[in-house]
Amino acid sequence: MITITNLTFKLDTDNTSYIMRVLPTGQLEQLHYGRYISGNGVSDALGEKHPVGYANTVAYSQQDVTFCLDQLPTELSGVGKGDFREPAIELTGDDGCFVTDFGYHSHRVTQGHPAIKGLPSAYGDCETLEITLLDPISGCTLLLSYHLFAHCDIITRQTLLTAGDKPVTVRRVMSMQLDLHGSNYRMVTFNGAWAREMQPEEQPLRCGRFVIDAKSGVSSNLHNPFFMIKGSDCTETAGDCWAFNLIYSGNHCQIAEVSPHGRTRLLSGINPHCFAHRLEAGEQFAAPEAVLGYSHNGAGGISRSMHDFVRGHIVRGEWKKMPRPVLVNSWEANYFDIDEDKLVAQAHKAHALGAELYVVDDGWFGKRNNDTTSLGDWFENPSKLPGGLARLAERFASIPMALGLWVEPEMVSVESELYKAHPDWALAVPASHHSMGRNQLVLDLSRDEVCDYMIQRMTAVIGSADISYIKWDMNRNLSDVYSVCAGHNGDLFHRYTLGYYRIMQAVTERFPKVLFEGCAGGGNRFDLGVLCYMPQIWLSDNTDVHCRAAIQRGASYGYPQSVVAAHLSDCPNHQTGRTASLSSRFAVAAMGLLGYELDVTTLGTDDADVVHRQIEFYKQHRLLLQYGTQHRLDIDDDNFTAWITVSGDKSEAIVLLYQQLFVPNTPPPLLRLRGLDPKRSYRINELSSRGEIATASGDLLCYAGLRLGQIVPVDGLSPNALVLPDFGAVLLHLTS
Ligand code: GLA
Repeated sequence: MITITNLTFKLDTDNTSYIMRVLPTGQLEQLHYGRYISGNGVSDALGEKHPVGYANTVAYSQQDVTFCLDQLPTELSGVGKGDFREPAIELTGDDGCFVTDFGYHSHRVTQGHPAIKGLPSAYGDCETLEITLLDPISGCTLLLSYHLFAHCDIITRQTLLTAGDKPVTVRRVMSMQLDLHGSNYRMVTFNGAWAREMQPEEQPLRCGRFVIDAKSGVSSNLHNPFFMIKGSDCTETAGDCWAFNLIYSGNHCQIAEVSPHGRTRLLSGINPHCFAHRLEAGEQFAAPEAVLGYSHNGAGGISRSMHDFVRGHIVRGEWKKMPRPVLVNSWEANYFDIDEDKLVAQAHKAHALGAELYVVDDGWFGKRNNDTTSLGDWFENPSKLPGGLARLAERFASIPMALGLWVEPEMVSVESELYKAHPDWALAVPASHHSMGRNQLVLDLSRDEVCDYMIQRMTAVIGSADISYIKWDMNRNLSDVYSVCAGHNGDLFHRYTLGYYRIMQAVTERFPKVLFEGCAGGGNRFDLGVLCYMPQIWLSDNTDVHCRAAIQRGASYGYPQSVVAAHLSDCPNHQTGRTASLSSRFAVAAMGLLGYELDVTTLGTDDADVVHRQIEFYKQHRLLLQYGTQHRLDIDDDNFTAWITVSGDKSEAIVLLYQQLFVPNTPPPLLRLRGLDPKRSYRINELSSRGEIATASGDLLCYAGLRLGQIVPVDGLSPNALVLPDFGAVLLHLTS
């Protein structure tokens, strides 16, 4: 609900309040963002007090020499009027002037969320507050829109800049600014690299700036745009926790600045690095939408708000709430060595095991027998697929097996027909040597003709056969970022991202029934922008149980399991060389969108039986596994990781318990569950070996806990023990 009293704006979601007001000098003062507060938010208790003007501070105006912007918590900070912290907006006029002074002009309340031209955005029922600010110096106006997704406790903020009657160069427009009172906060960011994505790191904020960003052209596995801020009392289940994300897939930047005056400023938006966007008189620039959430129920509370928001207001289309198919993917089974008969044989076996979709990964097109060639040539390789995709799909249909396909349309190999025909379509600095990534170049998606071609080619490929699923890959970071098109280079990274969105919009709109999965060598582009077009993303190329448990747990802070593709692969694992039992590999993968990434035709009878039962179990419980409410569980022993997913009516739940290394003669962990109905009685079934192990009430399991009993590394050592070797995982199924 939005309440406006004397230019004090109070934005309420079910459990949070966001309060700001217009000061007599025109600035928007940030008063509170946190726990829900009753009333209209107007009180002398809130609001910055300005006792004196200190020696070398700059008073905003002579009318009040105690009022300096450097100490003001504000919704939008500019440059040159005495706020010496990191600005949210930085413009230069043609005369070189950096100074801006945005002040309140008008406001209005509307319903709903209009689409943002060229950019993905949240959608669905919401109340919206629009505040227009005007800068008399540059002549620009800024429209700040606040969208309230009340039941998820999420507010999104959007910024639209319009040039006045003279041109400006936009050096930065951050999508979100939040000035928090005080400085005693910890920041949690999600960092990594290929095959070790989404590793949470928590650190106290100190005086000065802490920055995470992406400069590689994609949201990146180095630093995800999602981050959290914890108050001093925040735990997994209680205390102040804020979380932020950005609906954007390109270079982003998140800044936390603690000022010497003890204030904390948070900013998130397009990375100002290599960004200068020219706005002619009257032209507009839309910044990507920012997502803000607060919970007084700690990290777990804010994660569940984010999950609800992503499921309800980011993921869209046919697959939004649909059970996702169990798939078998050809990559690690065959790499590039595929042909029609082999694929059909594997698809037959996949069907016998219960899988519903077979994905033909890399290698089906051009002359692609390794990764040095053919990207761009999206035509079937006749020696591998003599009857083309159409005949393959027909043979699959008779099994029956749905057909999925891998593509990487944003790339081009130098050794390709496309590159021969259009060498200037790749990003490259003329007359300079090119820095390669995976032997490939990146297409210049800032150019309309390149995007048009890709839309047309992808439409032709997907329309050429009965294709149910597309894995849209993107395997390298951007380098040599230069376009031959005049005027494109100042903000080429951003233009690339807009081109990508244009392609995604056109192709996904053309094939509404096809399930699209995003991929960028695993999770190098795992963000809310991608999820507006594709309902799921391949989180990591790393399918090793030990690494995956950590990567999936990391992702769970900001993203629900219904967007996380997770595969069971062969042993020794292709990324780490480690071995883990089939049931352990299943347990971890089953907590996401299950797939198998191995040659199913080589499974022995026993393993095939196990896989068959796994898929049966998963299909039977997939609504719970894919869409249940997740709670991370705490165990006082770093050797273990656990989380639980609970059905909407709390009648059923599944717990994952993962053990890193077996340590002999140690006490078994106590597992305190979460999210259960305290009054219900639950039967607990251990999936791999012991069967039913206990019956207990929800309150007992949550407040006292489940003592797991002795753990042994191999079966038969001790009756009734839980068999959990090194890198072992187990699922517990609770029913009531
Ligand atoms: C990337 C993906 C893999 C696979 C290969 C194919 O690395 O992450 O899953 O599709 O490309 O080349």
